[in-house]
Amino acid sequence: MERSLSMEIVRVTEAAALSSARWMGRGVKDEADDAATTAMRSVFDTIPMRGTVVIGEGEMDEAPMLYIGEKLGTGDGPGVDVAVDPLEGTDIVAQGSWNALSVIAIADRGSLLHAPDMYMDKIAVGPEAVGKIDINAPVIENLKAVAKAKNKDIEDIVATVLDRPRHAKLIQEIRNSGARIKLIPAGDVAAAINTAFDDTGVDILLGSGGAPEGVLAAAALKCLGGEIQGKLLPSNNEEIARCHEMGITDLDKVFYMDDFCSGDDAIFAATGVTDGELLKGVQFKGSNATTSTVVMRAKSGTVRFIEGKHSLQKKPNLVMQP
Ligand code: FBP
Repeated sequence: MERSLSMEIVRVTEAAALSSARWMGRGVKDEADDAATTAMRSVFDTIPMRGTVVIGEGEMDEAPMLYIGEKLGTGDGPGVDVAVDPLEGTDIVAQGSWNALSVIAIADRGSLLHAPDMYMDKIAVGPEAVGKIDINAPVIENLKAVAKAKNKDIEDIVATVLDRPRHAKLIQEIRNSGARIKLIPAGDVAAAINTAFDDTGVDILLGSGGAPEGVLAAAALKCLGGEIQGKLLPSNNEEIARCHEMGITDLDKVFYMDDFCSGDDAIFAATGVTDGELLKGVQFKGSNATTSTVVMRAKSGTVRFIEGKHSLQKKPNLVMQP
């Protein structure tokens, strides 16, 4: 892949974040999502690549843009798989809460998992605990392994878990182990990425969330040298049939890093929409706005934090209409 694509996709996540951040705290999530998707789509058209959406806003008949299979880019340049979540954490923005992101991952054509839109059980850790976790092992064993790998007591380990009734047993098991818990309202892509950065104070992500989000998290962790494992959780016959269509007959199959994102390269970018542990959200001041983005590449291992200052006078499309 072309190195310059890194900077190109930053422009895309910045535009989506700037557009959707205008909807922060207004109690409406679809408008925020639409704003992000529209902005993301329009900037993609300017990028020299031959992209195909493999993780997107849904199938063609349910998503007007950024649908799975949609072609992106100018039609010149490298052929790549594209995974997008224009607004990861639609409820977060609606509530003005933490950790909403605009996210893109790209990788060589054929290397990203075409994950179906269903739940997936996940476990994710940063570089120090790579190779030490096992999604099939008891929760306490994983927590002990991460503590040992990070040279911490288990009481010092912080596990991030989506605050959902379905996680009641998991939460109890973590509590029984003595580890600490950070319950989050939404946004497990940010939660997975955060495990790879000491400053965020979290060590492991546990529990189920969207399978497409698992692919995005895997691309990020590939760049960061971390690890995610996942197991699809089909909840009805339709979802089981979907797994079979994908060639997955063993529903207990564990997806490892190479299943999510094969090959030796991937590029990942995320721009903060609302404030989070790793990235600041968009801030507006007069005719300017600032953005905070992380962009990274698996092949080189480079991780860049980019602070953007944007003139809204020169980008009038980012000024929300009443
Ligand atoms: P949206 O951006 O679609 O709102 O998803 C946010 C999210 O919290 C993901 O981060 C997570 O994987 C999934 O939803 C969890 O789903 P649910 O809210 O149904 O538990």
